[in-house]
Amino acid sequence: MRPKTVFACQECGAQAQKWMGRCPECGAWNSLVEERAVPAGSEERRYSFVPAGAGARLYAEVDSVAAERLSSGIDEFDRVLGGGIVPGSLVLIGGEPGIGKSTLLLQAAAEFARTIGPVLYSSGEESEHQIKSRGDRLGVDGAPLYLLAETCLERILEEIVRLQPALVIVDSVQTVFSVKLQSAPGSIGQVREAATQLLFAAKSHNIPTFLVGHVTKDGSLAGPKALEHVVDTVLYFEGERHHAHRVVRAVKNRFGAVSELGIFEMTERGLRPVPNPSQMFLAERPADAPGSAVLCSIEGSRPILVEVQALVSTSSYGNARRMAIGIDPNRLSLLLAVLEKRAGFNLMADDVFVNVAGGIEVNEPAADLGVAAAVASSVRNRPIRPGTAVFGEVGLAGEVRGISQAPLRVREAVQMGFFRCVLPSGNCAPSDVPDTCELVGVRRLGEALDQLFD
Ligand code: TYD
Ligand code: MG
Repeated sequence: MRPKTVFACQECGAQAQKWMGRCPECGAWNSLVEERAVPAGSEERRYSFVPAGAGARLYAEVDSVAAERLSSGIDEFDRVLGGGIVPGSLVLIGGEPGIGKSTLLLQAAAEFARTIGPVLYSSGEESEHQIKSRGDRLGVDGAPLYLLAETCLERILEEIVRLQPALVIVDSVQTVFSVKLQSAPGSIGQVREAATQLLFAAKSHNIPTFLVGHVTKDGSLAGPKALEHVVDTVLYFEGERHHAHRVVRAVKNRFGAVSELGIFEMTERGLRPVPNPSQMFLAERPADAPGSAVLCSIEGSRPILVEVQALVSTSSYGNARRMAIGIDPNRLSLLLAVLEKRAGFNLMADDVFVNVAGGIEVNEPAADLGVAAAVASSVRNRPIRPGTAVFGEVGLAGEVRGISQAPLRVREAVQMGFFRCVLPSGNCAPSDVPDTCELVGVRRLGEALDQLFD
């Protein structure tokens, strides 16, 4: 019998019986590729974490297990993982090529092997010698670290069963292919098969497993939807490789807080954790420059001060340009409209550029007031009063809305030498905030702007 084929969308994993120019699920163009269908219920499709025949169990009869965590030996990495590596968990680490995924994982692998147990590092991208020479640079020595240059999924699984390591790393999931499928390595079918089989191996042997995933131009992991729901945790390298530091963010975590950040610096001897990110993000801030505001954002569980810069200049072309790096462009458009309508600014004929310094992304509504302040400062060509940090959400009516964890933000600002915070009046009740800091509560955007300039 001729093997049955299906057409699978390489973007979202949707399947269709015939080829189409556009995926009916996600709308991507030209993304359907022919793959061999695996019949439902066949041997290859039967994955389960419990022995066959075991039925449903009563909630009360299931033992609760204390959430055990294994340290990767790198504290910033443990932090993004939600406090360490959970046994049997499957973690996907995404990022652009050259950003430092292999470096971080090799460092973690070496530490883990030294302190906890043997690690299997399987690479489909580099030879053992290449990995070794990188390891020499990173100062990896005699730890029980097994290297495997292999792309065949079945061989990798065999090695996992044979070695029974304490940690498995697969770099990258897009290079792995199963001989059971006929589609090319990197296609959605292969990537999903690899992730599912490795998940099964991780859960049934209780071995934590890291998958490296490459990112496509538009910023998504290749086959993102197909992988994100399979894995327990998704970590993502943010920013650009041209910056010396690297931000790793948890975008999904079944065992911890999402949007937790780990911040590293790339040195000639690998990635070094950055102990004080606020200090690093503010290090090159120009003093007394118009268009610069310092805001305090909460990323995961910690407050971080960042500088947001705006440049507003008369547009020389017919239609004004708006560009946002590090904040959501839609949020910027909204804030510009509010500034225009509620605070009397006229920005229609101006180009507006906004950049969050240091390549970090700030997606919290609490950043609104900082962004609006930076734009206003650039338009008026006047610097914001020195020593002032600002945060608050801005509503469409021009009101400044309360935000979460204000005392935490104020304390971080004080620690970094700020002595004045402009914040929503609803957050102004002083609760264990150092009294060296003047708190200026505001209700409306216009009022906030009045308070920000001399
Ligand atoms: P790499 O981990 O290979 O990136 P990825 O696996 O995400 O593709 O990182 C490679 C970059 O990091 C490369 O440009 C060189 C740089 N690097 C250092 O600066 N210092 C080091 O110690 C190492 C190992 C790499
Ligand atoms: Mg790599």
